[in-house]
Amino acid sequence: MEQKSILVTGGAGYIGSHTVLQLLLGGYRAVIVDNLDNSSQIAVERVQKLAGEYGPNLSFHQIDLRDKPALEQLFVTTKFEAVIHFAGLKAVGESVQKPLMYYDNNLIGTIVLLEVMAAHGCKKLVFSSSATVYGWPKEVPCTEEFPLSATNPYGRTKLFIEEICRDIYQSDSEWKIILLRYFNPVGAHPSGDIGEDPRGIPNNLMPFVQQVAVGRRPALTVFGTDYSTADGTGVRDYIHVVDLADGHISALNKLSDPSVGCEVYNLGTGKGTSVLEMVAAFEKASGKKIPLVLAGRRPGDAEVVYASTDKAAHELTWKAKYGIDEMCRDQWNWASKNPYGYESPDSTA
Ligand code: NAD
Ligand code: UFG
Repeated sequence: MEQKSILVTGGAGYIGSHTVLQLLLGGYRAVIVDNLDNSSQIAVERVQKLAGEYGPNLSFHQIDLRDKPALEQLFVTTKFEAVIHFAGLKAVGESVQKPLMYYDNNLIGTIVLLEVMAAHGCKKLVFSSSATVYGWPKEVPCTEEFPLSATNPYGRTKLFIEEICRDIYQSDSEWKIILLRYFNPVGAHPSGDIGEDPRGIPNNLMPFVQQVAVGRRPALTVFGTDYSTADGTGVRDYIHVVDLADGHISALNKLSDPSVGCEVYNLGTGKGTSVLEMVAAFEKASGKKIPLVLAGRRPGDAEVVYASTDKAAHELTWKAKYGIDEMCRDQWNWASKNPYGYESPDSTA
């Protein structure tokens, strides 16, 4: 049987690299398009190595999605079964400072991709949306039918792209699109060879905790201790990045179901964990003490967000397998082997 080729935009990034590995191990060919704006080619090399005998089924192209002729060229030479579209900028605070940069990169990049896909008759897409589209939910767990909102330009790009996808499906029912709303991806591949390596000061909880643990930062600032939660800190649905990656394989399989049009699924665990609970789990996994600075709320943060997982369980037959102890174990394994991310001396050689 001929192997199916999947185009993975943003495949050198955190979630993309883990998904590409699962694709290769699942027998797919993977073609990464990434401009390396927020990633390293070392991640691609490590994925290739981790994939063992499947490694040769991976190819990488340093292309910006907005470079239409370069993307066209790729579609001329390869027939893609589907596209998994991760590429985008994702820092909430930066998007408030530089909204046009976010609209240009995320929206124009996506529109160019969709145009090129349509022109080449590739109409199957899995898109990285986010739980951020639920805003501050009135109740939890969040179901896919909840009202949508956005409080910053990053979130608005997710909302707009979801709407664009619904519109193109309305205009042409040959499209098959799955919008995946991720909750909070954390952890790393159990090998410790690939993981999250943010540029600059991390915006998100676990990359920050990890940098405190390896001595790169003195303390974690806890944003808000007066929420109506058991310990006063914010509650989120943390999901192991390998579970999340597997969710994409399930979504890809679902695209072959004739009943699929433009569908949306939450990818989360359905469990809420507070900041302090997460820090305690990381301390247990790493044996490191994480000094804390208790501070006020971060503007725009919701109090409690976690997923309803029923729809993905029933329709994608996918469920997260790992809990926070495994997430923290694997996060620490990655951090201790690569304290400076991909710029660390090569621990895999
Ligand atoms: P990441 O920054 O590690 O990966 C994104 C990749 O896209 C990077 O490798 C970057 O270089 C690339 N890229 C960005 N703009 C590009 C362009 N114009 N052309 C080509 N490549 C480009 O981020 P991630 O955490 O892996 O997130 C992947 C996707 O999932 C993003 O769309 C993000 O918004 C979404 N998401 C992430 C989270 C999270 O907490 N990590 C949560 C919800 C949704
Ligand atoms: N937090 C701290 N200190 C930090 C960082 C975070 O206390 O240094 C707290 C936050 O206040 C929040 C929790 O840790 O209560 C999680 O914060 P993150 O920034 O890790 O995650 P968010 O839920 O705020 O947002 C993330 C991504 C969004 C994405 C969303 C849902 O940043 O892009 O998850 O997937 F949309």
